[in-house]
Amino acid sequence: MSREKIVVIDFGGQYNQLVARRVRECNVYCEIYSYRTDLEQIKAMNPKGIILTGGPDSCYGPGAASCDRELFELGIPVLGLCYGAQLMMHVLGGRVTKAPVGEYGKIEVRVDTSSKLFGNVSEKTVCWMSHHDYIEREAPGFRVIAHTVDCPVAAVQWEERDLYAIQFHPEVLHTQEGTKMIRNFLYEVCRCEGNWKMDAFVENSIEAIRRKVGSGKVLCALSGGVDSSVAAVMLSKAVGEQLTCVFVDHGLLRKDEGDEVEAVFGPDGPYKLNFIRVNAQERFYGRLQGVEEPEQKRKIIGEEFIRVFEEEAKRIGAVDFLVQGTIYPDVVESGLGGESAVIKSHHNVGGLPDYVDFKEILEPLRDLFKDEVRKAGLELGIPENLVFRQPFPGPGLGIRIIGEVTPEKVVMVQEADAIYREEIVKAGLDKGIGQYFAALTNMRSVGVMGDERTYDYAVALRAVSTVDFMTAEVAEIPWDVLGKVAGRIVNEVRGISRVLYDVTQKPPGTIEFE
Ligand code: XMP
Repeated sequence: MSREKIVVIDFGGQYNQLVARRVRECNVYCEIYSYRTDLEQIKAMNPKGIILTGGPDSCYGPGAASCDRELFELGIPVLGLCYGAQLMMHVLGGRVTKAPVGEYGKIEVRVDTSSKLFGNVSEKTVCWMSHHDYIEREAPGFRVIAHTVDCPVAAVQWEERDLYAIQFHPEVLHTQEGTKMIRNFLYEVCRCEGNWKMDAFVENSIEAIRRKVGSGKVLCALSGGVDSSVAAVMLSKAVGEQLTCVFVDHGLLRKDEGDEVEAVFGPDGPYKLNFIRVNAQERFYGRLQGVEEPEQKRKIIGEEFIRVFEEEAKRIGAVDFLVQGTIYPDVVESGLGGESAVIKSHHNVGGLPDYVDFKEILEPLRDLFKDEVRKAGLELGIPENLVFRQPFPGPGLGIRIIGEVTPEKVVMVQEADAIYREEIVKAGLDKGIGQYFAALTNMRSVGVMGDERTYDYAVALRAVSTVDFMTAEVAEIPWDVLGKVAGRIVNEVRGISRVLYDVTQKPPGTIEFE
């Protein structure tokens, strides 16, 4: 079955992955490409439609990100958003200049509901604006279909040519009817069928993997996190016992986590795969002895992880395929997909591990956003507690213990964290908080316990709300819940006599507490 596709052309704006996610939420597959991508390449993909994203430039400025006029003459529907809208007007003969009044934030827009783009949208609708330039005059052939008090051309169309441009950001949730507008473009203008569904994706992927792997051997490093778990289960459904999963327990996992991973993926679990658990706690604790500096701890844990995995891989011998849990944001943020600056260098994109003897890499989740990975996980029947698990850093509790890591401190933070998580779930707050955990500070202070004076550690509770983990706000947990958590921790966890609540935003704080 051919997959219908929308191409999102990236001009470097901050919401560009959001545009792609919204399209996919409407059951239409899309991919992000830089505006530098050759037009021939885009034509060859035969997309059902093209969306031009926002971007930081002024389209009339020197060296601004641009596109060919021919893009608008392919007979393929185009929707320009913000910068993309201005660029479309600029290239096709309209006039874009600095706006007398810039618009930022939620603005009421009046739309012409007879336009295909605004079918079923309210005449007055709140939209998210963020622009300093504006379209002073639309290009010839276009008709204005939306305006605001300060923006005479908030949207335009040339219906016969399927060209649409909007100044605001329908992809941002503050645009109350934004998803409707995107849906209208996809279904009313591009005439998409909407065949991007996770059940079909999972089924097709399993089939494709089976064909590709044949009778080959496959190796997968399983961390118990969402991505590697979904990849492993998908592989196991495709090739069963030809798959070997190696799970390295570095002794820095949350309380009982190693056993939970083993219960799902081990010999008594529902999946038919070869599962190897390596209990390497002592090795990691040994290497971390006396080390206080967070970057050094991260490095040691990373290196040791590779060593342990390498030893196991040697024991297993040559394999045909190595599985990696790369997901679509990894691809885009590595600068391979869109225009985004390289935000992070990903261990799992590009650089292949040279310590495993394998012929080819398999990346079954490479096309998926995180929420799609979770949906695929549910389709595969993976337990919900695993699928909706919070992010947990690779170096684990090693970076949630300030200063030297010792086995005793690991137990303290595990116990405190388990109590904290249990109480948050009990209070029904777990779904509403992006990430929450306990971290052990390196501070000891005087306390009293019964008649005795104590000199014990302080634990810090962290809870943040975040959409993208790049910025985060402090989540407000009611005092009674915090009080209960604090009471239980100091009573139940030996070595902890004080509980602090971290009220730092990101930036300047990071989400992790290291
Ligand atoms: P920070 O602390 O940088 O974290 O604000 C942002 C998000 O990334 C997670 N994180 C990591 N994830 N390996 C990972 O897989 C790591 O080394 C790592 N460090 C931070 C963190 O939990 C948060 O969700």
